[in-house]
Amino acid sequence: MSVRFSNEEFVKLKKELLIYEWGQRTLLTKLSIIHEDLNVFQENNPIEHIKGRIKSPESIAQKLKNMQVDITAENAKKHLKDIAGIRIICSFAKDIYYLADLLRAMPDVRILEEKDYISSPKPSGYRSYHVIMGIPVFHSEISEEVVVEVQIRTEAMNFWSTLEHKARYKYQDHVPSHLCDELIICADKIAELDNRMFLIHEIISLINQDS
Ligand code: GTP
Ligand code: MG
Repeated sequence: MSVRFSNEEFVKLKKELLIYEWGQRTLLTKLSIIHEDLNVFQENNPIEHIKGRIKSPESIAQKLKNMQVDITAENAKKHLKDIAGIRIICSFAKDIYYLADLLRAMPDVRILEEKDYISSPKPSGYRSYHVIMGIPVFHSEISEEVVVEVQIRTEAMNFWSTLEHKARYKYQDHVPSHLCDELIICADKIAELDNRMFLIHEIISLINQDS
């Protein structure tokens, strides 16, 4: 099986990707309002930044190949939940649960699935909170629910996962065991660092209340 879409399927995929982009854009707009609201009306804004990406046709094809299904636009839509992805980077691990609560409270969207890799990290050491959301998009005279994966994590978790992702890419998923071990140690240290930074933040907040 070659790792690319046929010309015919590629044309279909391009149309689908546009609809994913509309869903992603809709959610990004809703999130930017939440971000601004927290900035203006709350003392502490837990959101550092928000960004979105649409998975490339090459990565989609590769993922479908790994799943051993035909590389078609229909299979991409059926099997992949992270074609449209949004990352919310926050300051402290505790904020992650607050932000997940906000996502759950949003009207007009559906929560399809949640995965808590903060309380149950992956064996790789990966930590993040994933919320798969269904975002309605009105187009071609119909309302279609677009699936968007939201990953919520701290700056430190993001730093780790970017580096680990690079290692996986470089070694084509066969990262040498000594590097895997080192990454697991780093992930644990990062979790500890996140906690300690949060404690410092709490102490500073208490001092501010007193003065
Ligand atoms: P995939 O992992 O994407 O095949 O889908 P899944 O259904 O297994 O969902 P999961 O929640 O495991 O992963 C979704 C996304 O989370 C991935 O596409 C990555 O962006 C991220 N992710 C999951 N596990 C890891 C990991 O061990 N390291 C890094 N760097 N990212 C991960
Ligand atoms: Mg996975």
